[in-house]
Amino acid sequence: MARILITSAIPYINGIKHLGNLVGSQLPADLFARYARGRGHEVMFICATDEHGTPAELAAAKAGQPVAEYCAEMHAVQAELANGFRLSFDHFGRSSSTRNHALTQHFAGKLYDAGLIEEVSEKQVFSIDDNRFLPDRYITGTCPNCGNTSARGDQCEECTKQLDPTDLINPRSSISGSTNLEVRETKHLYLKQRNLRDKLRDWIKSKKDWPLLTTSIALKWLDDGDGLQDRGITRDLHWGIPVRRGAAPWPGMEGKVFYVWFDAPIEYIAGTAEWADAHGRPDADWQRWWRTDMGAEDVTYYQFMGKDNVPFHTLSFPATILGSGEPWKLVDYLKSFNYLNYDGGQFSTSQGRGVFMDQALSILPSDYWRWWLLSHAPESADSEFTWENFQASVNKDLADVLGNLVSRVTKFCASKFSGEVPAAGEYGAREEELIAALSSGLEAYQSAMDKIQVRRGAEELRALWVLGNEYLQSAAPWSVIKTDEAQAKTIIALSLNLIRLYAILSRPFIPDAAEAMMAAMKCDDWTWPSDIAADLRRLPAGHSFDVPENLFRKITDEERAAWAAKFSGKRD
Ligand code: 2FM
Ligand code: ZN
Repeated sequence: MARILITSAIPYINGIKHLGNLVGSQLPADLFARYARGRGHEVMFICATDEHGTPAELAAAKAGQPVAEYCAEMHAVQAELANGFRLSFDHFGRSSSTRNHALTQHFAGKLYDAGLIEEVSEKQVFSIDDNRFLPDRYITGTCPNCGNTSARGDQCEECTKQLDPTDLINPRSSISGSTNLEVRETKHLYLKQRNLRDKLRDWIKSKKDWPLLTTSIALKWLDDGDGLQDRGITRDLHWGIPVRRGAAPWPGMEGKVFYVWFDAPIEYIAGTAEWADAHGRPDADWQRWWRTDMGAEDVTYYQFMGKDNVPFHTLSFPATILGSGEPWKLVDYLKSFNYLNYDGGQFSTSQGRGVFMDQALSILPSDYWRWWLLSHAPESADSEFTWENFQASVNKDLADVLGNLVSRVTKFCASKFSGEVPAAGEYGAREEELIAALSSGLEAYQSAMDKIQVRRGAEELRALWVLGNEYLQSAAPWSVIKTDEAQAKTIIALSLNLIRLYAILSRPFIPDAAEAMMAAMKCDDWTWPSDIAADLRRLPAGHSFDVPENLFRKITDEERAAWAAKFSGKRD
């Protein structure tokens, strides 16, 4: 049994996530966590909400709520949706937790002790009416290059020119519209990442088995152009983790907070500590996942995220860990994803475009979404959600292949024999062939899943379902029963066992259907198969079972058209 630590990129608190966000981190992380547990490994699976930063403050202001209250409410909403999608986190934490405050301040103190923090004075725009410094992108004005009157302080989206807020003509606050702005001097802490460049390069280059997408992004940021830059890790905001040096105040940094991207990944560790707290366990119980001096040397750590998050996880967070000089665990395998597009365009939170997690669950159960999303995960390239494709996949793979097998076998047995597994006799050539094909198919499935090849895993699983269907079709117990009842019983006994086998193998992808299948077989033995022949005799003659409700229903053309229309615009 191995020990496997899994983290998913932690979603921003402001608003409900769309399916593109879901398939880029939380869902494949869940797939892998469920698979690893299914194989009998000890798993710790952590996610959380990412609660700091200007977007969180602005979303709270828009909702007319104090930011702490807004975050608490949105955390509950996201936790509920995660549950709806059956995301099996061991803990769904909050980056605003006291654990994360303490750990973030601890890391900053260690980086300071290691001489890796520098104080830098900068000039920044302060909005007097908003009583706050404005990040560059929250300043709007006229572009000096093209005259666009709503250019942002970091870049003009019309002519793409990179800007400095002070370049803008008639600058105003994007928050209040106020033009009552002034440039003020402010001091910030910088993490001297450049000092860690060689260590980071060696570490990244040692990761021979990482996906190309991951290493190419990491090395590009490390070596391209000016290469790795020192990075500001503090902000002049009201909401966030106060800047302290461990438990001590940081002179000159009063009223400032750490930058959201500094504290967010530390929440992976803090979230594990929150898990221990929630279960009344001692610190040693979470430290054994994270500290190599406390037992984590035999942990394999996997991270899941969208490609935009890769630089932060291959450079910034490792710089924090390595720079601390303490024995914290670094990621062993980083699985990153491209983007999922929506019906000819992009999913977009700001424009409300696409299908969001709450909307998805309001029209169909989570397994339908999980299956489509995972079997179309944007691994080697961006992929696209279309309603046609979704309908086809659900109707063919889930309803026609898997659902149909379960329903035919259970209904046939209940009507021709009884609600009990019939006695199986000797197998013939057809059964032996099926066992051989299932055995090699199982190996192919495991090999894809071990390598976190999500789409290939789905294909291999589907191929296993198809084998069962083809077997049933050619064994044709409905004809055989007329001449050889014993033979028909053997076919059905084997097929009922096949349902249990499929429940186990399918659980990482479609956990609810898997549980319904296992419950119908009145069994609770989820032991991962190692000997297909033996597993197909696991439910003995006389063992009772239920005929389950239809596992999956088909999506009609009318529904497809109605949903395509309903989700074509902007969500309110
Ligand atoms: O891109 C995002 O959704 C970020 N909130 C991810 C943060 S991941 C990590 F750093 F915790
Ligand atoms: Zn412009």
